[in-house]
Amino acid sequence: MFEHLLPPEPDKIFRLTGQFAADPRADKVDLLVGLYRNAHGLTPVLGAVKEAERRILETQTTKSYLGFEGDRGFIAGMRSLLLADAVPEARVAGIATVGGTSALRQIFELVRTLMPDAQVWISDPSWPIHAGMAEHLGLAHRSYRYLDRDSNGLDRDGMMEDLRAARAGDIIVLHGCCHNPSGADLTLSDWEDVARVCLATGAIPLVDMAYQGFGTGLDEDAAGTRLLAQRVPTLFVAASCSKNFGLYRDRAGVALAVTSQGAARDAAQGHLIAMNRNNYSFPPDHGARTVDLILHDAELRQMWEAELTSMRETITRNRRALAESLRAETGSDRFGALAAHQGMFSLIGATPAQVDALREDHAVYVVGDGRMNVAGLTEQTVPIVARAMAQVLG
Ligand SMILES: Cc1ncc(COP(=O)(O)O)c(C=O)c1O
Repeated sequence: MFEHLLPPEPDKIFRLTGQFAADPRADKVDLLVGLYRNAHGLTPVLGAVKEAERRILETQTTKSYLGFEGDRGFIAGMRSLLLADAVPEARVAGIATVGGTSALRQIFELVRTLMPDAQVWISDPSWPIHAGMAEHLGLAHRSYRYLDRDSNGLDRDGMMEDLRAARAGDIIVLHGCCHNPSGADLTLSDWEDVARVCLATGAIPLVDMAYQGFGTGLDEDAAGTRLLAQRVPTLFVAASCSKNFGLYRDRAGVALAVTSQGAARDAAQGHLIAMNRNNYSFPPDHGARTVDLILHDAELRQMWEAELTSMRETITRNRRALAESLRAETGSDRFGALAAHQGMFSLIGATPAQVDALREDHAVYVVGDGRMNVAGLTEQTVPIVARAMAQVLG
């Protein structure tokens, strides 16, 4: 069967990660994969997670199957973290998934099953998996303008103009906060505009929430999602616990559908459950149970929120320090937007040749489109990166 096939293209980021590991230079800097690193350059297990896991180890008496939707306490906790009291519980269907990627996958597949002619609208730029997954599933996808590459901020008018061409039943993918890769986020008034466009066109928003708590705060980062939930008749949310709980490899996430109360909600719940059943029967439980405990135990929750705040503050400090070093190195404010962006990532406006030069001449590794993981910087690496950027891009 495979004799006449070539392997598919390897994932570009993970290929560069391999190259980084093999690079013998001592002062190399890895700003590739979206991982939070502390001041020592490590991605430790959070204290709240360790404590929750200790309690699970001590008290868990069985590992028998749960329902196809996964741990209900976890789903309820995540619903409340994402939506608070924006809509009544009875309007929200939800399943646990294999991290945020599979939440997206379950929703995309549900859309393809129920509305095969739907187009998926994806921001330009976006996390490459959005378009890749739509293609993999045979869903048509279109891009909408998002980033104004001159100002490195949001192209609000372009975005709304493009989205007005969406058709009823189309899916509009929105980054809940901390836009990947640009770091440029919507304001509440932009979210209002998105809601208006959805109501006018009949398009359905899908919020991809992978970084809640990494931008401004847990509630602030979910404000746009909550606003949409209150305005539109149907909303999908795909959420990940990989970054904000540091559970990357444990794969915890949820897929939610906000609908009208009653039969519509029950239908949504049934279809979401069928997605889990047909793809992997039961979602993994360990990460979900850990999050469930943290969200529902006052002591663990306080501990987690403090750790999340500390991660967010480190990222903000990195942003400011890099923007400042760049100002000193270049004598200009050209990279000032880096300090204003939200979350882990920014685009540094580098051409592919400049990305190569950063890597080959300075051992600074960023993704091919010029995406930098700001959360991968440390006090020691900020000056190295600023000097390299000033020389290559300045
Ligand atoms: C925009 C976006 N969505 C979703 C995810 C999914 O993350 P995971 O599947 O690791 O939970 C990521 C992870 O990098 C992301 O950047």
